[in-house]
Amino acid sequence: MEFIFKKDYDEVSKAAAEVFVDIIKNNPRAVLGLATGSTPIGLYKELIESNQRGMIDFSEIKTFNLDEYLGLAPDHEYSYSYFMKDNLFNHIQIKPENCHVPSGIESDYNTYCSHYEELLDSAGGMDILLLGVGENGHIGFNEPDKALSARTHVVDLTEDTIRVNARFFESVEDVPRKAVTMGMGTILKARKIIVLITGENKASVMERLFNCQRMDPEFPISFLVGHTDVTVIADEAACKNIREK
Ligand code: F6R
Repeated sequence: MEFIFKKDYDEVSKAAAEVFVDIIKNNPRAVLGLATGSTPIGLYKELIESNQRGMIDFSEIKTFNLDEYLGLAPDHEYSYSYFMKDNLFNHIQIKPENCHVPSGIESDYNTYCSHYEELLDSAGGMDILLLGVGENGHIGFNEPDKALSARTHVVDLTEDTIRVNARFFESVEDVPRKAVTMGMGTILKARKIIVLITGENKASVMERLFNCQRMDPEFPISFLVGHTDVTVIADEAACKNIREK
């Protein structure tokens, strides 16, 4: 696992954008794995700008998002589908049929999750996957547990995650209790993984990851130690506990 340390959020976003721009320039048909949340917004702004300046072409790019809340339709303003359109897809030249965000409103998730995996496999798998990390170490919505699921599946969100994500909703009661997420095996199959960690609220997860040697399902991001091409890009605030030592 490689660590790159940057001064602040903007620098992290720019460094991540450089990696994505390179991938897209080298392979205009690349398959991107994408995340939502506060962390990637700066990167998405950079990619929009690069697209508008003609530096990168999204016309043959395919994307697969990590996760979605259960019960929220794609046009719901708090759904991850809506987030992706609002923060990226509506501002770049990408084909809507090439953008995949798991559906939050399926009746049969056994069938649906297999279908999502098959779609990803038939696109050739992810050339690069962007990850943020939860304060509890979750990646996607793979929450700390005694064991983690390999494939795309439905999860119960932890009280921690519901509390932390309430900032995106009117109230904590409005946060869905379940989500659908890529599994750890799905994530680890990505050929390259970029993790962005920013802000003081991520200092303790950053410290734990920095010192991490083994896979622990109670700390899901630790599974990335088993992957050969992971780059963590973090800002000074997130590295607070590491720098103080
Ligand atoms: C979102 C996702 C989550 C977030 C994580 C951090 O698609 O998969 O794992 O990356 O909860 O969220 P932020 O960036 O809001 O701190």
